[in-house]
Amino acid sequence: MTDNKIIKIGTFFSGIGAPEKALERLKRENYIDDYKVQFFSEIDKNAIKSYCAIHNVDESLNLGSITDIKGNNLPYCDLWVGGFPCQDISCAGKMRGFNFESSTRSSPGWEMIRLLREVKNKPKYVIFENVAMITSKKFKDTLNLFKEDLMSLGYTLYDDLLCATDYETPQN
Ligand SMILES: C[S@@+](CC[C@H](N)C(=O)[O-])C[C@H]1O[C@@H](n2cnc3c(N)ncnc32)[C@H](O)[C@@H]1O
Repeated sequence: MTDNKIIKIGTFFSGIGAPEKALERLKRENYIDDYKVQFFSEIDKNAIKSYCAIHNVDESLNLGSITDIKGNNLPYCDLWVGGFPCQDISCAGKMRGFNFESSTRSSPGWEMIRLLREVKNKPKYVIFENVAMITSKKFKDTLNLFKEDLMSLGYTLYDDLLCATDYETPQN
């Protein structure tokens, strides 16, 4: 992906850093040479401590709430990943949605679109992850707006519905 083949990654809504763990595995299994965490963004203090312990990085790499991040301050990354909060999308919740104007717990996903507009050097790849319900009829219009914004930013889109049990995890 880059000349020295180190994949630079930045994640938002980072939790405990599952995408970073996936890169660690890809490195171990020789699919990639190496990766480097440029930053992460998380607000939950226990998740932050866990993230730093799991990935052996300093808390200073945490940029805090995505709402406070300014895109033009971000270092270049090859890859951004954001699994934005699903509480208002999932059928386990009230399904209030993730409209840009709504202030639901799931609406901060749009902050990544804002940052993609602001950042000087856009990441080559961006991965969004959420629950299957985001593809339902109820959220189709919002998801289409989200996709249109990404296309207007120059990205080619690929989407898929994956079942975690197919990847040896005990969650359907
Ligand atoms: C669905 S979890 C993502 C889990 C993550 N993909 C992982 O690998 O662990 C969503 C995360 O977003 C975080 N979050 C919620 N609002 C945020 C905000 N404004 N800025 C940054 N993180 C936020 C939550 O604390 C939570 O850990």
